[in-house]
Amino acid sequence: MMVEKPNRPSLKNVHLPNSTPQQEMELAQGMVRVNHLYRSALKVAVAQMEILDEEFATLNDRSPIHHIEYRIKTLDSIVEKLQRRGHAVTIDNIYAYVQDVAGIRIICNYLDDIYYLRSLLTRNESFRVIQEVDYIKTPKPSGYRSLHLAIAIPVYLLDGCEEVIVEVQIRTVAMDFWASLEHQLRYK
Ligand code: GTP
Ligand code: MG
Repeated sequence: MMVEKPNRPSLKNVHLPNSTPQQEMELAQGMVRVNHLYRSALKVAVAQMEILDEEFATLNDRSPIHHIEYRIKTLDSIVEKLQRRGHAVTIDNIYAYVQDVAGIRIICNYLDDIYYLRSLLTRNESFRVIQEVDYIKTPKPSGYRSLHLAIAIPVYLLDGCEEVIVEVQIRTVAMDFWASLEHQLRYK
């Protein structure tokens, strides 16, 4: 049986009129690469976390992870963030200044599970933690609580290995419930 591959952006599909300025042409082509890199990093990171969760569950009869959510930041939101911080909209600036193009949210059952998962993740020498902000020990003024990590994930590609940054937010079910309510209230 043939398994159909989902439609994904490809360089062949970037059809822009010939009059498109060179700069925009390069930006569109660069975005195809950005999308592929960050989607790949998400897959690697999520797969690794699921492996650890399943192994823990087979040994202990319960899972540290309640569920995992992940997303790629939309192009609009990437552009908005670069502009808000006073950076030109270029591919290099996306890599340099937008740390949350690929975002994973791990929702745990208990507080201890958060720090247990963190220790498992940081034990993996190929996952390099480049930033950590503990909004659990020091909540934001809004009351927001979550452990934020920026992790460089190695992705093996046709022309070698590239490290891609993924933002990981780890929180309990209760913290997640609070954050979604507060988010809804703020944007309502
Ligand atoms: P962003 O431009 O939002 O990425 O801010 P930042 O790069 O300074 O990072 P920060 O750690 O403040 O926030 C990153 C993410 O954490 C946000 O995109 C939200 O998902 C979440 N977050 C941070 N603060 C709050 C908050 O007060 N309320 C809620 N609901 N979520 C928050
Ligand atoms: Mg951020």
